[in-house]
Amino acid sequence: GLCNSRELFQKAVSGGYAIPAYNFNNLEQLQAIIMACAETKSPVILQVSKGARSYANETLLRFLAQGAVAYAEELGSPIPIVLHLDHGDSFELCKDCIESGFSSVMIDGSHLPYEENVALTKKVVEYAHQFDVTVEGELGVLAGIEDEVSHAAHTYTQPEEVEDFVAKTGVDSLAISIGTSHGAFKFKPGEDPKIRLDILEEIEKRIPGFPIVLHGASSVPQELVKTINEHGGRLKDAIGIGEDQLRLAAKSAVCKINIDSDGRLAMTAAVRKVFDEKPEEFDPRKYLGPARDSLKQLYMHKIINVLGSNGKA
Ligand code: G3H
Ligand code: 13P
Ligand code: ZN
Repeated sequence: GLCNSRELFQKAVSGGYAIPAYNFNNLEQLQAIIMACAETKSPVILQVSKGARSYANETLLRFLAQGAVAYAEELGSPIPIVLHLDHGDSFELCKDCIESGFSSVMIDGSHLPYEENVALTKKVVEYAHQFDVTVEGELGVLAGIEDEVSHAAHTYTQPEEVEDFVAKTGVDSLAISIGTSHGAFKFKPGEDPKIRLDILEEIEKRIPGFPIVLHGASSVPQELVKTINEHGGRLKDAIGIGEDQLRLAAKSAVCKINIDSDGRLAMTAAVRKVFDEKPEEFDPRKYLGPARDSLKQLYMHKIINVLGSNGKA
């Protein structure tokens, strides 16, 4: 069955790699994730956002994720699979997911005043741990669009707060803000996309070996942006985090790296290409199939060349 993230994170921190956390909203995305992780023998965290829940129906997504365990076995590669709520914004939402069978949840109180974040996160942890569900909390606010609330600039995680937060809340992992951001437009042209590895280092000193999570870690591959724009798309100035930066982070206590936007780009590029080059096609399998293949390749590339989770299942 589905597993929680506890043991996976311990191994990832001590092994110097990170586990992929890929968002899914439909069958093809899930297939691509499982195919990629089964083939590379990587553990995986399947992430469902609030938006995914309402888009695809939470019950359907949950059954798909549970089916994925059997699917991976069928592919000859039983891998650990976590079903995780991405950016839970209330106790009730987390409780709902825990009751319905998620094995992990995120409570994102990062926009709240510190003490309120602590109180909310602690409440979720106390509930979740009764069911052996692991909890991710967040300290610091990412720049860009987070949870439909627009934040102009980063509020970096303050290393002085992490020890207290982790001790008071009992969280199993901590998402931090060190310069990554959500979406495909993370930086302006001419900016030097660097993440603050010095802050990460400072955080690691305060909570040695504690599992750290990076959100907003898409790299926005320029060849995908180019393919989209060559086939009728209009994505201007889409820039992400360099894979070299993420590779360094993955070697540290960062043990979960969230990637969603890159997958959206891969699917869109593939679908646009089919629509452009084969305008006679109208069978969804003829464009969603190539989209799924391209997504699988992207996910395998991340696992092998960035996260280092291949062979760790
Ligand atoms: O952090 C956000 C994830 O990329 C999920 O996005 O809320 O549009 O499903 P979403
Ligand atoms: P990206 O938008 O960079 O893919 O980040 C995804 C994410 O953090 C999901 O929680
Ligand atoms: Zn996120």
